[in-house]
Amino acid sequence: MERTLVLIKPDAFRKHYTGDIIKRYESEGFHILAMKMLKMTKELAAKHYAEHIGRSYYEDLEGFMTSGPIIAMVLEGEDAIGAVRRINGKTNPKEAAEGTIRRQFAESGSRNAVHASDSPENAAREIAIFFNATEIFD
Ligand code: PPS
Repeated sequence: MERTLVLIKPDAFRKHYTGDIIKRYESEGFHILAMKMLKMTKELAAKHYAEHIGRSYYEDLEGFMTSGPIIAMVLEGEDAIGAVRRINGKTNPKEAAEGTIRRQFAESGSRNAVHASDSPENAAREIAIFFNATEIFD
């Protein structure tokens, strides 16, 4: 069993896709261990996206991710890190496979509906940024 951190991004929240996205993960068999709605501050964005600071797109990414509510979730399931990223699809919805969340719900490669951790190390790091032990039900 693995755990991963998922964020529903401001574009998907604004378009009322939150329920559909959560339902998709649950219907694929993942268990929600933690969930909250919050505003991503610039400080939180810098922690979560630390490896992207200084890249050409960082300002745009920061502005977008702080532009409205996000939903943060810890999902648990078999091969959760890889499986959730496959369900999300490629960064750019035009390249994302049919049936993926990004293909269905994302606007563009930068307004792309969801984030999911890309490795066990990042999953542990990202989960700890958003949740403390009392907020995770295992
Ligand atoms: S990399 O180098 O493979 O990690 O890059 P990539 O996965 O393509 O992108 C990393 C995250 O940055 C987001 N991104 C952007 N956001 C806003 N504006 C622009 N222009 C932009 N370009 C890339 C991309 O959606 C990835 O976010 P997450 O949340 O990790 O999916």
